[in-house]
Amino acid sequence: MNMQKLIQQILEKKPIADMFRQCNYFQRHGRNYTCCCPFHSEKTPSCVIYPELYLFYCKGCGVGGDVITFLQLTENFSYMDAINLLAQELNLKIAPENFNSKIKLQRDICYAINRETANFYYFNLLRGGDKRGLEYFIKRHLSPRIIKKYGLGFAPDDWHALRNYLSQKGYSDEELILSGVCRKSEKGNIYDNFRNRVIFPIVNPVGNVIGFGGRVLDDSKPKYLNTSDTPVFDKGSNLFSLHFAQNKASDMLILAEGYMDVIAMHQAGFENVVATLGTAITPQQARLIARYTKEVIIAYDSDFAGQNATQKALQHFQAVGLPARVLHIQNAKDPDEFIKNYGSEEFKILIKNAKNAIHFQLDKCKINLDLQTEQGKASMLRRSVQVLAEIENDFVRKNYISKIAGDLEIDFKILESQVNNIIKKQAKNNKKIEFQKIENQLYQKDEMNPLANQYLKESKLEEMLLAYIMLFPENAEIVLKKLLPEDFITDFHRKIYQAVFQIISENFKFMPSFLGYFFDKNQMSRIAGIVINYIEYEFDSEIINHCILHLQNAKNQTVINHINMSDNDLVQVIANKQKHIHWTN
Ligand code: CTP
Ligand code: MN
Repeated sequence: MNMQKLIQQILEKKPIADMFRQCNYFQRHGRNYTCCCPFHSEKTPSCVIYPELYLFYCKGCGVGGDVITFLQLTENFSYMDAINLLAQELNLKIAPENFNSKIKLQRDICYAINRETANFYYFNLLRGGDKRGLEYFIKRHLSPRIIKKYGLGFAPDDWHALRNYLSQKGYSDEELILSGVCRKSEKGNIYDNFRNRVIFPIVNPVGNVIGFGGRVLDDSKPKYLNTSDTPVFDKGSNLFSLHFAQNKASDMLILAEGYMDVIAMHQAGFENVVATLGTAITPQQARLIARYTKEVIIAYDSDFAGQNATQKALQHFQAVGLPARVLHIQNAKDPDEFIKNYGSEEFKILIKNAKNAIHFQLDKCKINLDLQTEQGKASMLRRSVQVLAEIENDFVRKNYISKIAGDLEIDFKILESQVNNIIKKQAKNNKKIEFQKIENQLYQKDEMNPLANQYLKESKLEEMLLAYIMLFPENAEIVLKKLLPEDFITDFHRKIYQAVFQIISENFKFMPSFLGYFFDKNQMSRIAGIVINYIEYEFDSEIINHCILHLQNAKNQTVINHINMSDNDLVQVIANKQKHIHWTN
């Protein structure tokens, strides 16, 4: 089976709309679907899914493509990995020459080395001569059962112990470096990455060890060391303990800051808990969490850094439309310490009392204020109107206004009118920003297709022709015969044209997805945009001929740019751009 057949089968068997069912406002619109875009934050749906073209496109942020692009964007897969995964899931057979066996092989080697490494650290923790790792975990109240369940380990205080062990098992130095368990010094010596640290293996939802976190036994720095990115490990798109949490998280998932917090909570009976991998939460991780649960509880450290991180996490969850609440930990620095001091029953109460995002923001307004004094009240008023103005739902907003007015002993009407003033101001500002965006888009450098802004009209005509041949490949020959790739003025459009040309001349069949082989995910987004922009356009041969003629002639002219455009054309181009930016039902 050739590549294009395979892609076609994937597209036909994996409905693209299924990828978006979880999104807010997912809705059918005739043959298409619309929803809030999973790739940027928005309140009104701008993302459209076109099952007949196997494409999606967000008119708000310009992200688009097919199911393969979708996986590349959400899971950070390479093009070939995304295809492999889909083929596997759909039980499609792939001829070996079709998949990039090098990548597959590299990933398999990394998994195998990681598994051996985890075993090595685990047995070293339990059976090694140096008992400090085990003592450390016991000191931190971890039971033998939980140590075993998480496969915790200890990396010996030795530069070469792991390397020697894995060399004996037949792994080459290159492979050890590739998987991140060893490093190479400037002098060229190979040494173990983790030394004299307790080890937390990081396991993905299908049970493969993908990386490690290692903690020092004392107060030395850095406290944690994490595997850097490898073919199987990407800090920003995985979560610690998700393999345990995934089946317990449908109602609620707890997000903690640290590995130790997760393990302590798990041991106390809260298995629906995950943590990020040593970095702040990414949009990707927020989306991942939203896929597994209906509600997330943020259980970060109670210190200043933890509270700041909570604020950021709340924004990420709001962006993906996942309801979030915040755990308010008092008299302990983190969940681990809280459970150690007060036990799991008290922790249960904490979870029950976790407050929603609005509460969290309003509580934050009170920091360092004495609400008994007039000055304190005035500051609280100033801070809280900002928070209140951000509440979208009228009913909810009124409720909170009434609550705060009560707390501050002021008149509801006064507070409400202050809040409304801010809302009005913001609405004005938003319009300005929106307008600025349109202007910027018009005159901004186009990195993907640098000549496009200089040759606005030609670039638009090129897009129109490209859309035409991609939407009506059966008519493409008329264009392909008359117009040479050289007739294209902008480079990116020329490349698309060449690729379409090549595909059609090889198979007489064309789907926009076949271009995924030639273009990366960002370019695929742009291509999806070109196709989708003309989806309802009524092409006729006159228009097509006009485009062809104009491009053929334009090439022979020396200076062509948007200054030569008629006002009408320019208005048209701007209108088109705007159509691009706003999605109206
Ligand atoms: N972290 C890191 N590098 C550091 C410090 C922290 O990668 N130098 C990451 C780790 O993933 C850690 C998380 O940030 O789990 C939270 O940090 P912290 O609260 O300091 O660690 P805990 O897991 O709570 O560990 P401990 O209780 O042992 O302090
Ligand atoms: Mn901690």
